[in-house]
Amino acid sequence: MSLPVVGFVGWRGMVGSVLLERMLAEKDFDLIEPIFFSTSNSGAKVPSFAGHRISKNEEVLQDAHQIDALKKCDYIISTQGGDYTNAIFGPLRASGWSGHWIDAASSLRMDSQAKIVLDPVNRPVIDQAIAHNNLNWIGGNCTVSLMLMGLNGLFNAGLVEWVSAMTYQAASGAGAQNMRELLSQMGYLYQHVQGDLADSGAAILDIDRRVTEALNSDNYPKSNFRNTPLAGSLIPWIDVPVAHGQTKEEWKGGAECNKILGLPPFREAGSIPIDGICVRVGSMRCHSQGLTIKLKKHVAIEEIEQLLTNANDWVNVVPNDRELTEKHLTPAAVTGTLQIPIGRIHHLAMGPEYIGAFTVGDQLLWGAAEPLRRILRILLEA
Ligand code: HSE
Repeated sequence: MSLPVVGFVGWRGMVGSVLLERMLAEKDFDLIEPIFFSTSNSGAKVPSFAGHRISKNEEVLQDAHQIDALKKCDYIISTQGGDYTNAIFGPLRASGWSGHWIDAASSLRMDSQAKIVLDPVNRPVIDQAIAHNNLNWIGGNCTVSLMLMGLNGLFNAGLVEWVSAMTYQAASGAGAQNMRELLSQMGYLYQHVQGDLADSGAAILDIDRRVTEALNSDNYPKSNFRNTPLAGSLIPWIDVPVAHGQTKEEWKGGAECNKILGLPPFREAGSIPIDGICVRVGSMRCHSQGLTIKLKKHVAIEEIEQLLTNANDWVNVVPNDRELTEKHLTPAAVTGTLQIPIGRIHHLAMGPEYIGAFTVGDQLLWGAAEPLRRILRILLEA
């Protein structure tokens, strides 16, 4: 029996690499015949991945711009980015291709012909779309997916009136070059004060003055962050401005969450207001979020923790305890894992319906690659 053909575009990038790692770990390649595409290197030999030769038939990379080559696929997974989607998706569909398009880019997310996939949270929406022959499956924005994984139980219970999410977003969300630049910045700052640090008698305010000079010097490596220092600082602006004083990243919170949950569009009657300020911080690949949640009624903390814990297999409640929070609720603890810890859960001073919480998640796993891997698997098994 021939296996379904799955084309991969953008598999060399950061999200694509994490996707392949996860697919190898879950033995997804046993179920498919992969074809690897390239936008720049077609004709080159298909590489092996961590010692695994996973391409069964196609020995060379196919041209990712050749509609005829793409049309051979039953499924295409693109982690190539929005420009590629914008260039290829329309002509590919216009050519009559009726395979499944699975995409990490935001280009098609709000399209009425596409579903945003996050199956632990919106499996009913996905199942209904499968029944209606939907063919376009798009991964959500990383911050949105991570928040919904964490708050799944409260949304399921219909308890959420609104959410304010103040984010602490990792460098990886801006790209691989930005991760490198963050590390270069850390090194640059350290080099500037290395001698003073070795001298235990050096005055901290002198050290701080040197750090400030370095942060603001023309030589501080910051071109990838639009000439704004990140290490030793933060950047309270992510992506382009949109309406209502929001950034596009902040708008995605409301727009995508409501679509994922199958609710009316953001800012329309029946939708849940979700808003906040998105901030880039010097974390490598975990996004964190400080959440203020207004519930529809007072609910005891124990009940909230139960609802959250029981919602999916990856969320875990960290008790509101100093040692446990320091140990389990940080990017350092979560990075590279599928865990979604949520903690600091307590009633806020604003009133009995107000809850504070904090959640952390790996931006490349549940934030990007994992929902794509899982929708492929769901479709293969449908
Ligand atoms: N837009 C996100 C960020 C990453 O800049 O952190 C991708 O969803």
